[in-house]
Amino acid sequence: MTESAAQRDFWTGVAREYDRVVDLQIGPATRGLIRERLSREGRLGDVVELGCGTGFYTRALVQQADSVVATDLSPGMLELARAAVAAPNVTFQVENCESTSFPDASFDVVFAALVLHFTEPARALAEMRRILRPGGVLLVANLDPKALSGLDRLRCQVRILWRGLTGYRRRPPPGLGRNVLSERELLDLLAAGGFKVTASEAIRDASRSSHIPIEWVSARR
Ligand SMILES: C[S@@+](CC[C@H](N)C(=O)[O-])C[C@H]1O[C@@H](n2cnc3c(N)ncnc32)[C@H](O)[C@@H]1O
Repeated sequence: MTESAAQRDFWTGVAREYDRVVDLQIGPATRGLIRERLSREGRLGDVVELGCGTGFYTRALVQQADSVVATDLSPGMLELARAAVAAPNVTFQVENCESTSFPDASFDVVFAALVLHFTEPARALAEMRRILRPGGVLLVANLDPKALSGLDRLRCQVRILWRGLTGYRRRPPPGLGRNVLSERELLDLLAAGGFKVTASEAIRDASRSSHIPIEWVSARR
């Protein structure tokens, strides 16, 4: 089985548990804080969401966009997203964000939350740039355990592993999530890929010092 088929099957197998487990892994307020930051981007035009999961951010995107194509590698995730988000301006389709079926320059905004570390990041970023219109904007929410140090980083990593194993009760494919990027690594990859970074901000559920930091990064094609 290919790596992407193994990921597809894993995410489909855990889709019904995802929302509960991810909040235990990354802190209960984290995704709400990211969605609040997204709402401050204002109007977005034509948007593609990559790795939309259960549609947590799709609900917000449909309010801000002219059109949204919500995509994911996993049909099981997409099924839940489709059931959760009813809006006239959204469509759903299976796509691998490293190699999509979209023509060049299709979108004003590409949005990807908590997805890059499951991909080959340089390849995924090149694909994101390809499908963005000139001047279009990439919005990324990047999980960054490397922004913590010492015991906090260890606690964060153990929490994510433990909550994942006990919550999903399914063995993850080998190397799942191995490509976590620090803020520096992400910004360097974006620059090398021809993006101009316009913002990078830290978001974190402060209820525990070991909750994972998220970088909210905006970059222009
Ligand atoms: C941690 S979840 C994030 C879901 C959603 N963005 C959120 O933050 O609630 C990761 C999602 O990325 C999807 N995914 C993993 N690799 C992918 C790929 N190569 N292309 C598209 N989606 C992918 C998974 O199926 C899963 O739904």
